[in-house]
Amino acid sequence: MGRVAGRVAFITGAARGQGRAHAVRLAQEGADIVAVDSCSDVPSLEYPMATVDDLHETEKLVRDLGRRVLARQVDVRDQAGLDQVAADAVETLGGIDIVSANAGVCGCRPTFDLSDTEWQDMLDINLTGVWHTVKAAVPHMISAGRGGSVVLTSSVVTFVGAANVAHYNASKSGVVGLMKTLSAELGKHGIRVNAVHPGNVATDMLFSDSTLRVFCPDLANPTPDDLRDRARTGDVLGQGWVEPVDISNAVLYLASEEARFVTGVSLPVDCGRRIG
Ligand SMILES: NC(=O)c1ccc[n+]([C@@H]2O[C@H](COP(=O)([O-])OP(=O)(O)OC[C@H]3O[C@@H](n4cnc5c(N)ncnc54)[C@H](O)[C@@H]3O)[C@@H](O)[C@H]2O)c1
Repeated sequence: MGRVAGRVAFITGAARGQGRAHAVRLAQEGADIVAVDSCSDVPSLEYPMATVDDLHETEKLVRDLGRRVLARQVDVRDQAGLDQVAADAVETLGGIDIVSANAGVCGCRPTFDLSDTEWQDMLDINLTGVWHTVKAAVPHMISAGRGGSVVLTSSVVTFVGAANVAHYNASKSGVVGLMKTLSAELGKHGIRVNAVHPGNVATDMLFSDSTLRVFCPDLANPTPDDLRDRARTGDVLGQGWVEPVDISNAVLYLASEEARFVTGVSLPVDCGRRIG
């Protein structure tokens, strides 16, 4: 019997990286998956988003585990699109029990060099997109009356601060405020709301040129190995980064009955970066 057997998990940003890992890990533990991703680049960002092929690959990985999957190309800035996917999930998969609001983007620039567009895109995707996601999914959970778990993806940056990511930190700190208020409002429905705060995670976001340059501003063409050398010194376990599945295991815990009395918490998975 899997740890989330028979549940349906609604996951945004599921085409690659952590979102795909969450889809696979929850499916391994018996959940059916709603996999949402925009699969579309954002002009104000310096690295590409996932592709439709990436989303199909997530779909295949879940199906190969014997679980049902509903995969849709929708941008979290599109409330009507998310509402439609949630309605379709209820119709075809029988409801929604778990929400992983994971879709997010990152950019790096000194605060006063940020354009208004960079600022607004970051807030629209990382914060308003999370609000849209819970607004689409949670009313179905409330009306079904069987409780559930909502896990919002924040970042370790909210604990430590970091130069050149004001818009990112503002968005991820906003997610924590949203998490706390939602946990207060939804407890009476048996719905728990928590945040996971990844440190560095080995995904395309971390290995984008713009992020590599933040860690290695003195190098002309920094590589992931350069980043690892420097990032290792920043965490107490000396790792530099974790794998996407390490975040998935935290999401799985928060989604499962093992965390049945855990709500309103911020859970870092950061190798101790915030205290290093
Ligand atoms: N990688 C890290 O080091 C790290 C650290 C802390 C927090 N995070 C957070 O973890 C989450 C997952 O990031 P990741 O590391 O897997 O990066 P990633 O870039 O590999 O994956 C992000 C996914 O979100 C999708 N996406 C982006 N904008 C979207 C939108 N508007 N609508 C729908 N989907 C959209 C992308 O297409 C992509 O598939 C993000 O919220 C990110 O901010 C990442």
